[in-house]
Amino acid sequence: MATTPTNNRGTWNSKFGFILAAAGSAVGLGNIWRFPTEAASNGGAAFLFIYIICVVLIGLPVMIAELSIGRSTQKNPVGAFKALSSNKFFPLVGFWGVLCGVMILSFYTVIAGWTFSHVFVEIFTFTGLEGAANVLADFDNGFVNAAFALLFMGLTIAIIRGGVSEGIERATKLMMPLLIVILVVMAVYVMFQPGASEGLEVYLKPDFSLITGELVLAAMGQAFFSLSLGMGALITYGSYLSKKENLVEAASYVTLADVGIAFLAGLLIMPTIFLAQAQGVEIYNEAGEFLAGPALIFQILPELFVQMGGLVGLALGVSFFFLLSLAALTSTISLLEVPTSYIIDEYGVRRKKAALYVGLFVLIISLIISFNTALIDSIDFIFSVIGLPLGGLLICIFIGYFWKTRSAIDEIKQGFKDVRDSWFTTIWSIFIKFICPIIIIIILAQTLMG
Ligand code: TRP
Repeated sequence: MATTPTNNRGTWNSKFGFILAAAGSAVGLGNIWRFPTEAASNGGAAFLFIYIICVVLIGLPVMIAELSIGRSTQKNPVGAFKALSSNKFFPLVGFWGVLCGVMILSFYTVIAGWTFSHVFVEIFTFTGLEGAANVLADFDNGFVNAAFALLFMGLTIAIIRGGVSEGIERATKLMMPLLIVILVVMAVYVMFQPGASEGLEVYLKPDFSLITGELVLAAMGQAFFSLSLGMGALITYGSYLSKKENLVEAASYVTLADVGIAFLAGLLIMPTIFLAQAQGVEIYNEAGEFLAGPALIFQILPELFVQMGGLVGLALGVSFFFLLSLAALTSTISLLEVPTSYIIDEYGVRRKKAALYVGLFVLIISLIISFNTALIDSIDFIFSVIGLPLGGLLICIFIGYFWKTRSAIDEIKQGFKDVRDSWFTTIWSIFIKFICPIIIIIILAQTLMG
């Protein structure tokens, strides 16, 4: 190992390995399933615009904040807050993060199961086994949902039991470039279809009159979700990071990769929505309200593969859903790693046992969701849209007013020697103390009052 662990918690094999793992955590269903769905239901380009502002003004500073807490303490979110301050409230913030992680993971596993089942839906569709394809593609079939959720959680538990570095780093190194290639190929194909330009226009030409409080809240929630922020995933990942690494640089790469892939997914999916609509799939009702729910991409993308036809359609369809499953897996890994590291550190349970118990607990919730998919939207709203920004807000307040930005900067400095004299110190401190908390409070408050 290139890094010297201070205890036997494990570390990343290399700096690139860490960036891969954090990018693997960030890039997932959030980019390809959640982002396009949110954009489509919130006015397209107006959403994209506010989303990017949220990423830059809140996401990136909070990511650096989480990493610095994690690396400084080398602990899970609850232990980290305990280690840095005697204040009794903040460990609860860590615990809230663990809870958000558990709840997000519970529905994420079901959607990830849909992704994986669609690998087979593609194969069955193209080999003429329509009946089998229809059974697997039925989102209301609780047994199919449950079977694939079980499979997915089993894989996640197995990897987490093996420890942090090997599996995650390797899977991501392979998956990410391939996923980008496939997205580009498909986006280019879609752009040449008649009717695609309408979708592109909605996605890229902002109509600022569409910006509402609801849209801004959705965009902020999406930024937290997609960057894996606000619940301590990056405190945990930072805790396995060596002191030599430059946190600011790492956070910037991860953010860039995440936003880039989401943007690309939008370029593919927004036009596809309009193609699907032209072919009679109902996506908006007469009042212009979004009808397609969480299953949107699973309804429209398979159509596209069929339209591409032949071996090309089969190959692209299978690879797309397979790579998306891998991307989801590197994210479920990070979601399960947080509660697992909490149990390991705070209760002294061995890794293998901890991963199994936590995983099975989450799986029970996933099974309930499998039979009641309508729960997805409300769990997502409470724990992602509200829960994550709330966690992010409290992390900013903790660093700004309890642990102090000076201490965080001392930590950052270990892998970024000139940081003291750079403009970064001043700007980041202002963001953590004032700008991020104020924006988050305003957005959350207008929601509560609305
Ligand atoms: N960011 C991942 C995605 O976009 C999901 C995810 C992984 C996540 N870890 C997280 C979301 C922690 C919130 C918090 O698919």
